[in-house]
Amino acid sequence: MRRAVCPGSFDPVTNGHVDIIARAARLFDEVVVAVGVNKGKSRARLFTSEERMAQLEEVCAAFPNVTVAGFEGLLTDFCVAHDVHAIVKGLRAVTDFDYELQMAQMNSSLADVDTVFVPCSPEYSFLASSLVKEVATFGGDVSGLVPPEVLGQLTARLAERAAEED
Ligand code: PNS
Repeated sequence: MRRAVCPGSFDPVTNGHVDIIARAARLFDEVVVAVGVNKGKSRARLFTSEERMAQLEEVCAAFPNVTVAGFEGLLTDFCVAHDVHAIVKGLRAVTDFDYELQMAQMNSSLADVDTVFVPCSPEYSFLASSLVKEVATFGGDVSGLVPPEVLGQLTARLAERAAEED
């Protein structure tokens, strides 16, 4: 049984993430989408871990071999606990590669796990959750960038945040 983890912070999940999850689901028998914490981004968090997991469960319902789980701490600890030896990461452009290579090498030094890099579809090469949030915050149209299940929640959460700031 070939099993892989697709990790990320998914705040929010974008169509680019779904593209990578779909590719992983074709390559592996089982895929666990692991919703974690990126310490570098945690201050700008929009959705709680539970909300992101619920969004991903809805979006991934289309893939029968994909499940969703949350994790805190090291990704490699999650991999060991779930007996997973492959991490799937999407590459949008060469600029992703330096950082992703460093993380892949660190992860494989911590546990018996390898990282498989999957190039994203070119139509998503500019897509990032942080940019989606910024564009949506200023009223830009992100309807083609996030799954329809997530769009309403994104708009509502940003409106709540804007009201809090007033
Ligand atoms: O979607 P992101 O924000 O790029 O996801 C990054 C994430 C959550 C996969 C990464 O930050 C991570 O693996 N965090 C868990 C902590 C960890 O294992 N850190 C060491 C990485 S070498």
